[in-house]
Amino acid sequence: MTTFTPLGSPSAPANADADGRYRELYDLLYSNGPQARARAEQFLREQLTVAAELPCDLPEAPELLSSWTQQHCAAVARDYAHYLEERKQGGPRRYFSNKAHALFFLQRVAPTKEVDGAWLAGVLEHWQDLRYNGLLNTYLEELGRGDPRHNHVVIYRKLLAEHDCGDRQGLLDEHFRQGAIQLALGQCSEMFMPEVIGYNLGYEQLPLHLLISAYELRELGIDPYYFTLHVTIDNVSSGHGRKAIEALLELIPMEQGRDEFYRRVAIGYRLNDLGSGSTAVIAGFDLQQEVVAMLERKRRFGQHMHSDYCQVEGKTVNQWLATPGHIENFLGALQRKCWIKRHCPPGESRFWQLIEGDQAAMFGVFSGFEKQLLHDWIAGDWQAPQRRPAIRRAPFDDARADEIGADDSELKALQESLEDQSPRQQLRMLIPWLSAQRHCRPAGLFATRRFIECVAHLR
Ligand SMILES: [Fe+2]
Ligand SMILES: [Fe+2]
Repeated sequence: MTTFTPLGSPSAPANADADGRYRELYDLLYSNGPQARARAEQFLREQLTVAAELPCDLPEAPELLSSWTQQHCAAVARDYAHYLEERKQGGPRRYFSNKAHALFFLQRVAPTKEVDGAWLAGVLEHWQDLRYNGLLNTYLEELGRGDPRHNHVVIYRKLLAEHDCGDRQGLLDEHFRQGAIQLALGQCSEMFMPEVIGYNLGYEQLPLHLLISAYELRELGIDPYYFTLHVTIDNVSSGHGRKAIEALLELIPMEQGRDEFYRRVAIGYRLNDLGSGSTAVIAGFDLQQEVVAMLERKRRFGQHMHSDYCQVEGKTVNQWLATPGHIENFLGALQRKCWIKRHCPPGESRFWQLIEGDQAAMFGVFSGFEKQLLHDWIAGDWQAPQRRPAIRRAPFDDARADEIGADDSELKALQESLEDQSPRQQLRMLIPWLSAQRHCRPAGLFATRRFIECVAHLR
């Protein structure tokens, strides 16, 4: 038995950076690096110890889960109706103060969203056991059944790419904790199946924040498809929420070991509460602080890049950027020199003109997210004329979906290795390609489609 020490309070503030170990572990599990399995197991035991101390709102007996989830859903629906009414009466957005705030959120939950479904990877091994069918289907649906248009990870990555906010430099260690838990559960399922089932039960319940996020993202011109998709797919009448309960009722022992199994389910369920959740991430946004932190990160690269002909309050730009901790003063100086006119349309600021547009002197220096931070910080109290932004989604058309990676060498190698193999042998070879690291690659998408065919053939 592995010994372990808990990592401190689960409610520790998000800025208590635990020396980068969640991020390191996340990367290790994602890349399936050396000793990934052993590290995943040790980490899970640690996290489960912490989770066991948290309050639990699950009903006492599994038989009560159906009515419990219905009550939960009714409460969410009621709260959401209340939110909509508030907005109809002219109330402000509840979550996102501006677009930069929304992109900040998308960026910080990305390590979790980019391994969406990973906790269920271990159920693939149980494809023959019909009791696992609900979980298996949930997992395959997370993977879009091998269709990139429906693969949740692909959809999230497209969203990040569209707004150029996939960069992870500004993230805290805590932002990698949930993703690491999901990867670890997927890699150690055979030892922790009750915990996997419990985690899945918690993850697949529709939360209020999903509905509000989707509503406000759309308002800010950000395609909410990833979020609305989960509103429909995770529902409790027929979707993943329902399947989560059915799977638990199928897999829990009838008699001996029933209580112990349910106790473990309940601890797995509480793993959902570790790390910084969506609402905590959203509440942790401070525009001024984010602008300064972003420029501080950029400073190291920019400190030798500027020509010396212009001075701001007696110092060249390179001098301003030479040492850490002076960004706020520099921004103040730029405002006094009227290079930045806060609370005015950003286009009126000389600084913004240097950044925005193909002809701008600093074109390409800032990512889409970084530019949005600067834009919204400069704009401040100034409101752009109200116009409902059009949502632009560049969906894959059917033809493109099939063409993706058609001449990918990895895909070709996989296809060749499957030739002359029986469906059963093929299944064994395909399963590794349905893992969190691989399923969204062309070969992984193909493997998912082939896996589904083989299972149908063999059942
Ligand atoms: Fe999903
Ligand atoms: Fe789901």
